[in-house]
Amino acid sequence: MNDLDTIVSSAQAAFAQAPTPAELENAKARYLGKTGQITELMKGMAALSVEDKKTRGAAINLAKQAIEAALNARRQALADAELQAQLQAEALDVTLPGRQRGQGGLHPVSRTLERIEQIFGSMGFDVAQGPEIETDWFNFTALNTPQDHPARSMHDTFYVEGGSAEAPNLLRTHTSPMQIRHAVQHVKRYAGNAGGLFAGDMPEIRVIAPGRTYRVDSDATHSPMFHQCEGLWIGTEVSFKDLKFVFTDFCRTFFEDENLVLRFRPSFFPFTEPSAEIDIQFTSGPLAGRWLEVAGSGQVHPNVVRNMGLDPEKYIGFAFGMGPDRLTMLRYGVNDLRLFFDGDVRFLSQFR
Ligand code: PHE
Repeated sequence: MNDLDTIVSSAQAAFAQAPTPAELENAKARYLGKTGQITELMKGMAALSVEDKKTRGAAINLAKQAIEAALNARRQALADAELQAQLQAEALDVTLPGRQRGQGGLHPVSRTLERIEQIFGSMGFDVAQGPEIETDWFNFTALNTPQDHPARSMHDTFYVEGGSAEAPNLLRTHTSPMQIRHAVQHVKRYAGNAGGLFAGDMPEIRVIAPGRTYRVDSDATHSPMFHQCEGLWIGTEVSFKDLKFVFTDFCRTFFEDENLVLRFRPSFFPFTEPSAEIDIQFTSGPLAGRWLEVAGSGQVHPNVVRNMGLDPEKYIGFAFGMGPDRLTMLRYGVNDLRLFFDGDVRFLSQFR
Protein backbone atom coordinates (compact mmCIF):
# COMPACT_ATOMS: atom_id res chain seq x y z
CA MET A 1 0.00 0.00 0.00
CA ASN A 2 1.53 3.33 -0.93
CA ASP A 3 1.29 6.47 1.19
CA LEU A 4 -1.75 7.77 -0.72
CA ASP A 5 -3.74 4.57 -0.25
CA THR A 6 -2.96 4.71 3.47
CA ILE A 7 -4.22 8.29 3.70
CA VAL A 8 -7.39 7.43 1.77
CA SER A 9 -8.28 4.45 3.92
CA SER A 10 -7.49 6.35 7.12
CA ALA A 11 -9.78 9.17 5.92
CA GLN A 12 -12.55 6.73 5.05
CA ALA A 13 -12.30 5.16 8.50
CA ALA A 14 -12.28 8.58 10.25
CA PHE A 15 -15.35 9.72 8.33
CA ALA A 16 -17.23 6.50 8.98
CA GLN A 17 -16.62 6.92 12.71
CA ALA A 18 -17.67 10.60 12.87
CA PRO A 19 -20.99 10.45 14.76
CA THR A 20 -22.16 14.03 14.01
CA PRO A 21 -21.86 16.50 11.12
CA ALA A 22 -19.63 18.76 13.27
CA GLU A 23 -17.21 15.93 13.99
CA LEU A 24 -17.26 14.93 10.32
CA GLU A 25 -16.19 18.47 9.35
CA ASN A 26 -13.33 18.27 11.90
CA ALA A 27 -12.18 15.02 10.35
CA LYS A 28 -12.39 16.54 6.88
CA ALA A 29 -10.04 19.35 7.98
CA ARG A 30 -7.38 16.80 8.88
CA TYR A 31 -7.22 15.68 5.24
CA LEU A 32 -8.46 18.48 3.03
CA GLY A 33 -8.06 21.54 5.27
CA LYS A 34 -5.36 24.21 4.93
CA THR A 35 -2.86 22.05 6.79
CA GLY A 36 -4.50 18.73 6.00
CA GLN A 37 -2.50 15.75 4.81
CA ILE A 38 -3.56 16.01 1.14
CA THR A 39 -2.94 19.74 1.11
CA GLU A 40 0.55 19.21 2.55
CA LEU A 41 1.33 16.65 -0.16
CA MET A 42 0.29 19.13 -2.84
CA LYS A 43 2.57 21.75 -1.37
CA GLY A 44 5.44 19.20 -1.39
CA MET A 45 5.17 18.85 -5.19
CA ALA A 46 6.90 22.19 -5.76
CA ALA A 47 10.25 20.48 -5.47
CA LEU A 48 9.54 17.79 -8.10
CA SER A 49 10.54 17.72 -11.74
CA VAL A 50 7.94 18.45 -14.40
CA GLU A 51 7.69 14.80 -15.29
CA ASP A 52 7.23 13.67 -11.68
CA LYS A 53 4.73 16.47 -11.06
CA LYS A 54 2.46 15.00 -13.71
CA THR A 55 2.33 11.47 -12.32
CA ARG A 56 2.41 12.47 -8.64
CA GLY A 57 -0.21 15.20 -9.20
CA ALA A 58 -2.57 12.77 -10.92
CA ALA A 59 -2.15 10.26 -8.09
CA ILE A 60 -2.78 12.87 -5.39
CA ASN A 61 -5.87 14.05 -7.26
CA LEU A 62 -7.27 10.55 -7.39
CA ALA A 63 -6.69 10.19 -3.66
CA LYS A 64 -8.33 13.55 -3.07
CA GLN A 65 -11.36 12.57 -5.12
CA ALA A 66 -11.69 9.30 -3.20
CA ILE A 67 -11.57 11.22 0.10
CA GLU A 68 -14.15 13.74 -1.12
CA ALA A 69 -16.44 10.92 -2.25
CA ALA A 70 -16.18 9.30 1.18
CA LEU A 71 -16.85 12.67 2.82
CA ASN A 72 -20.00 13.33 0.74
CA ALA A 73 -21.30 9.84 1.29
CA ARG A 74 -20.92 10.26 5.06
CA ARG A 75 -22.49 13.72 4.97
CA GLN A 76 -25.52 12.29 3.21
CA ALA A 77 -25.73 9.36 5.61
CA LEU A 78 -25.65 11.67 8.65
CA ALA A 79 -28.28 13.98 7.14
CA ASP A 80 -30.53 11.01 6.38
CA ALA A 81 -30.14 9.72 9.93
CA GLU A 82 -31.01 13.12 11.35
CA LEU A 83 -34.14 13.40 9.22
CA GLN A 84 -35.15 9.90 10.21
CA ALA A 85 -34.75 10.72 13.90
CA GLN A 86 -36.77 13.89 13.52
CA LEU A 87 -39.59 12.12 11.72
CA GLN A 88 -39.65 9.49 14.41
CA ALA A 89 -39.80 12.11 17.16
CA GLU A 90 -42.70 13.85 15.46
CA ALA A 91 -44.47 10.67 14.60
CA LEU A 92 -48.20 11.05 14.00
CA ASP A 93 -50.52 8.19 14.66
CA VAL A 94 -53.03 8.82 11.90
CA THR A 95 -55.20 5.99 13.18
CA LEU A 96 -56.04 7.88 16.43
CA PRO A 97 -59.54 9.42 16.56
CA GLY A 98 -59.57 13.13 15.68
CA ARG A 99 -59.76 15.79 18.39
CA GLN A 100 -63.02 17.62 17.86
CA ARG A 101 -63.67 21.26 18.55
CA GLY A 102 -66.14 21.54 21.45
CA GLN A 103 -69.60 22.25 20.17
CA GLY A 104 -71.10 25.45 21.54
CA GLY A 105 -74.73 26.12 22.20
CA LEU A 106 -77.11 28.81 23.33
CA HIS A 107 -77.32 29.53 27.04
CA PRO A 108 -80.61 28.20 28.45
CA VAL A 109 -81.70 31.72 29.41
CA SER A 110 -80.91 32.94 25.88
CA ARG A 111 -83.08 30.14 24.56
CA THR A 112 -85.89 31.36 26.78
CA LEU A 113 -85.42 34.95 25.62
CA GLU A 114 -85.52 33.86 21.99
CA ARG A 115 -88.65 31.88 22.69
CA ILE A 116 -90.29 34.84 24.43
CA GLU A 117 -89.41 37.13 21.51
CA GLN A 118 -90.75 34.64 19.03
CA ILE A 119 -94.07 34.13 20.83
CA PHE A 120 -94.69 37.83 21.45
CA GLY A 121 -93.47 38.57 17.93
CA SER A 122 -96.25 36.37 16.61
CA MET A 123 -98.68 38.53 18.62
CA GLY A 124 -97.40 41.69 16.96
CA PHE A 125 -95.01 42.90 19.66
CA ASP A 126 -91.79 44.73 18.77
CA VAL A 127 -88.58 44.02 20.68
CA ALA A 128 -86.72 46.95 22.26
CA GLN A 129 -83.33 47.11 23.97
CA GLY A 130 -82.25 49.66 26.54
CA PRO A 131 -79.29 50.64 28.72
CA GLU A 132 -78.36 48.71 31.86
CA ILE A 133 -76.97 51.84 33.51
CA GLU A 134 -80.02 53.98 34.10
CA THR A 135 -80.86 57.37 35.44
CA ASP A 136 -82.94 57.84 38.55
CA TRP A 137 -85.63 59.38 36.34
CA PHE A 138 -86.26 56.41 34.07
CA ASN A 139 -85.81 53.73 36.74
CA PHE A 140 -87.93 55.37 39.46
CA THR A 141 -89.32 58.88 39.11
CA ALA A 142 -90.94 58.55 35.69
CA LEU A 143 -92.47 55.29 36.94
CA ASN A 144 -94.35 57.11 39.67
CA THR A 145 -92.05 55.70 42.35
CA PRO A 146 -91.81 58.11 45.28
CA GLN A 147 -88.57 59.36 46.78
CA ASP A 148 -89.02 57.23 49.94
CA HIS A 149 -89.84 53.96 48.16
CA PRO A 150 -87.80 51.08 49.68
CA ALA A 151 -86.54 50.00 46.20
CA ARG A 152 -84.56 53.22 46.15
CA SER A 153 -82.51 52.30 49.22
CA MET A 154 -78.81 51.45 49.08
CA HIS A 155 -79.35 47.85 50.13
CA ASP A 156 -81.69 47.14 47.23
CA THR A 157 -80.12 49.06 44.37
CA PHE A 158 -76.60 49.24 42.94
CA TYR A 159 -75.73 52.90 42.52
CA VAL A 160 -72.93 53.87 40.17
CA GLU A 161 -70.98 57.05 39.45
CA GLY A 162 -72.72 59.76 37.50
CA GLY A 163 -75.96 61.65 37.82
CA SER A 164 -76.47 64.07 40.68
CA ALA A 165 -76.34 63.72 44.46
CA GLU A 166 -80.15 63.58 44.72
CA ALA A 167 -80.52 61.47 41.57
CA PRO A 168 -77.49 59.21 41.17
CA ASN A 169 -77.17 56.80 38.25
CA LEU A 170 -77.79 53.14 38.95
CA LEU A 171 -77.91 49.66 37.46
CA ARG A 172 -81.51 49.26 36.40
CA THR A 173 -83.46 47.26 38.97
CA HIS A 174 -86.09 46.22 36.45
CA THR A 175 -86.82 46.57 32.73
CA SER A 176 -89.73 48.96 33.41
CA PRO A 177 -87.66 52.06 32.47
CA MET A 178 -88.02 50.73 28.92
CA GLN A 179 -91.76 51.46 29.13
CA ILE A 180 -90.93 55.15 29.26
CA ARG A 181 -87.95 55.12 26.89
CA HIS A 182 -89.77 53.20 24.19
CA ALA A 183 -93.07 55.07 24.54
CA VAL A 184 -91.35 58.49 24.40
CA GLN A 185 -89.59 57.47 21.16
CA HIS A 186 -92.81 56.14 19.71
CA VAL A 187 -94.78 59.27 20.60
CA LYS A 188 -92.03 61.50 19.20
CA ARG A 189 -92.21 59.63 15.91
CA TYR A 190 -95.96 60.18 15.50
CA ALA A 191 -96.57 63.42 17.37
CA GLY A 192 -93.42 65.27 16.39
CA ASN A 193 -92.37 67.94 18.83
CA ALA A 194 -95.84 69.34 19.38
CA GLY A 195 -95.25 69.67 23.13
CA GLY A 196 -97.82 68.91 25.82
CA LEU A 197 -99.56 65.55 26.11
CA PHE A 198 -100.35 63.86 22.84
CA ALA A 199 -104.03 63.07 22.28
CA GLY A 200 -103.96 62.62 18.51
CA ASP A 201 -103.99 59.35 16.63
CA MET A 202 -101.01 57.03 16.45
CA PRO A 203 -100.43 53.30 15.99
CA GLU A 204 -100.56 51.31 19.21
CA ILE A 205 -97.45 50.73 21.28
CA ARG A 206 -96.89 47.02 21.53
CA VAL A 207 -93.44 46.08 22.71
CA ILE A 208 -91.42 43.73 24.84
CA ALA A 209 -88.04 44.70 26.31
CA PRO A 210 -85.91 41.80 27.52
CA GLY A 211 -82.56 42.32 29.21
CA ARG A 212 -80.32 42.20 32.26
CA THR A 213 -81.36 43.76 35.54
CA TYR A 214 -79.59 44.15 38.90
CA ARG A 215 -80.49 44.05 42.58
CA VAL A 216 -78.52 43.60 45.81
CA ASP A 217 -79.74 40.07 46.37
CA SER A 218 -78.18 36.59 46.30
CA ASP A 219 -79.51 33.13 47.17
CA ALA A 220 -80.81 30.00 45.39
CA THR A 221 -83.61 31.95 43.74
CA HIS A 222 -81.97 35.40 43.51
CA SER A 223 -78.85 36.53 41.71
CA PRO A 224 -77.47 40.11 41.80
CA MET A 225 -77.71 40.04 38.00
CA PHE A 226 -80.84 38.51 36.59
CA HIS A 227 -83.10 38.88 33.59
CA GLN A 228 -86.43 40.50 33.10
CA CYS A 229 -88.68 40.97 30.15
CA GLU A 230 -90.99 43.94 30.12
CA GLY A 231 -94.18 44.02 28.13
CA LEU A 232 -96.18 47.09 27.23
CA TRP A 233 -99.34 47.55 25.21
CA ILE A 234 -100.76 51.05 24.97
CA GLY A 235 -103.73 52.02 22.82
CA THR A 236 -107.12 53.61 23.26
CA GLU A 237 -109.04 50.53 24.34
CA VAL A 238 -106.51 48.21 25.89
CA SER A 239 -107.90 46.72 29.09
CA PHE A 240 -107.02 44.35 31.90
CA LYS A 241 -108.97 41.72 30.00
CA ASP A 242 -106.41 41.99 27.17
CA LEU A 243 -103.60 41.58 29.67
CA LYS A 244 -105.17 38.38 30.94
CA PHE A 245 -105.69 37.04 27.44
CA VAL A 246 -102.23 37.93 26.15
CA PHE A 247 -100.34 36.65 29.16
CA THR A 248 -102.35 33.43 29.42
CA ASP A 249 -101.82 32.76 25.75
CA PHE A 250 -98.12 33.42 26.14
CA CYS A 251 -97.69 31.09 29.12
CA ARG A 252 -99.62 28.26 27.51
CA THR A 253 -97.54 28.55 24.35
CA PHE A 254 -94.26 28.92 26.24
CA PHE A 255 -94.83 25.82 28.38
CA GLU A 256 -96.63 23.95 25.61
CA ASP A 257 -99.45 23.24 28.06
CA GLU A 258 -102.97 24.12 26.97
CA ASN A 259 -104.29 23.36 30.46
CA LEU A 260 -101.93 25.68 32.32
CA VAL A 261 -103.92 27.77 34.83
CA LEU A 262 -103.13 31.42 35.61
CA ARG A 263 -104.03 33.42 38.67
CA PHE A 264 -103.98 37.22 38.79
CA ARG A 265 -103.37 38.02 42.46
CA PRO A 266 -104.01 41.64 43.55
CA SER A 267 -100.76 43.42 44.32
CA PHE A 268 -99.16 46.85 44.30
CA PHE A 269 -96.69 48.59 42.01
CA PRO A 270 -96.33 52.37 41.94
CA PHE A 271 -96.49 52.40 38.13
CA THR A 272 -99.63 50.30 37.64
CA GLU A 273 -103.19 50.60 38.96
CA PRO A 274 -104.73 48.15 39.48
CA SER A 275 -101.77 45.78 39.85
CA ALA A 276 -101.54 42.04 39.91
CA GLU A 277 -98.94 39.39 40.53
CA ILE A 278 -99.31 36.58 37.98
CA ASP A 279 -99.00 32.99 39.20
CA ILE A 280 -99.12 29.87 37.08
CA GLN A 281 -100.15 26.36 37.98
CA PHE A 282 -99.21 23.23 36.06
CA THR A 283 -101.87 20.55 35.99
CA SER A 284 -99.40 17.72 35.39
CA GLY A 285 -95.70 17.01 35.85
CA PRO A 286 -93.53 17.34 38.97
CA LEU A 287 -94.76 20.86 39.78
CA ALA A 288 -98.46 20.04 39.36
CA GLY A 289 -100.73 21.86 41.79
CA ARG A 290 -98.25 24.44 43.11
CA TRP A 291 -98.71 28.14 42.39
CA LEU A 292 -95.56 29.72 40.96
CA GLU A 293 -95.12 33.44 40.58
CA VAL A 294 -93.87 34.47 37.12
CA ALA A 295 -94.64 38.17 36.64
CA GLY A 296 -95.84 41.48 38.00
CA SER A 297 -98.40 43.38 35.95
CA GLY A 298 -101.17 45.94 35.84
CA GLN A 299 -102.90 48.77 34.01
CA VAL A 300 -100.36 51.52 33.39
CA HIS A 301 -100.80 54.31 35.96
CA PRO A 302 -102.07 57.64 34.48
CA ASN A 303 -98.98 59.43 35.85
CA VAL A 304 -96.80 57.03 33.88
CA VAL A 305 -98.89 57.51 30.74
CA ARG A 306 -98.28 61.26 31.19
CA ASN A 307 -94.53 60.70 31.51
CA MET A 308 -94.69 58.89 28.17
CA GLY A 309 -95.99 62.15 26.68
CA LEU A 310 -99.52 60.80 26.22
CA ASP A 311 -102.88 62.08 27.40
CA PRO A 312 -104.20 59.48 29.91
CA GLU A 313 -107.75 60.52 29.05
CA LYS A 314 -107.20 58.99 25.62
CA TYR A 315 -104.41 56.44 26.03
CA ILE A 316 -104.54 53.44 28.30
CA GLY A 317 -102.92 50.03 28.43
CA PHE A 318 -101.16 47.40 30.46
CA ALA A 319 -97.64 46.44 31.35
CA PHE A 320 -96.03 43.36 32.79
CA GLY A 321 -92.57 42.38 33.89
CA MET A 322 -91.60 38.72 33.99
CA GLY A 323 -88.53 36.77 34.98
CA PRO A 324 -87.04 34.75 32.13
CA ASP A 325 -84.64 33.06 34.58
CA ARG A 326 -87.62 31.78 36.53
CA LEU A 327 -89.33 30.62 33.34
CA THR A 328 -86.16 28.77 32.36
CA MET A 329 -85.95 27.05 35.77
CA LEU A 330 -89.58 25.94 35.46
CA ARG A 331 -89.25 24.79 31.88
CA TYR A 332 -86.13 22.70 32.47
CA GLY A 333 -86.63 21.77 36.14
CA VAL A 334 -83.54 23.62 37.43
CA ASN A 335 -83.68 24.28 41.18
CA ASP A 336 -80.83 26.76 41.70
CA LEU A 337 -80.79 30.01 39.74
CA ARG A 338 -77.05 30.50 40.37
CA LEU A 339 -76.26 27.51 38.12
CA PHE A 340 -77.17 29.68 35.14
CA PHE A 341 -74.45 32.20 35.89
CA ASP A 342 -71.59 30.02 37.23
CA GLY A 343 -70.41 29.27 33.68
CA ASP A 344 -69.93 25.56 34.42
CA VAL A 345 -69.81 23.83 31.04
CA ARG A 346 -70.96 20.52 32.54
CA PHE A 347 -74.23 22.20 33.49
CA LEU A 348 -74.59 24.33 30.37
CA SER A 349 -73.81 21.56 27.87
CA GLN A 350 -76.99 19.76 28.94
CA PHE A 351 -78.97 22.39 27.07
CA ARG A 352 -77.24 22.08 23.70
N1 PHE B 1 -91.04 46.08 37.39
C1 PHE B 1 -91.79 45.20 38.28
C2 PHE B 1 -90.77 44.40 39.10
O1 PHE B 1 -89.63 44.37 38.79
C3 PHE B 1 -92.68 44.28 37.51
C4 PHE B 1 -93.78 44.99 36.79
C5 PHE B 1 -93.62 45.40 35.50
C6 PHE B 1 -94.98 45.23 37.40
C7 PHE B 1 -94.63 46.04 34.82
C8 PHE B 1 -95.99 45.86 36.77
C9 PHE B 1 -95.83 46.26 35.49
O2 PHE B 1 -91.13 43.77 40.09
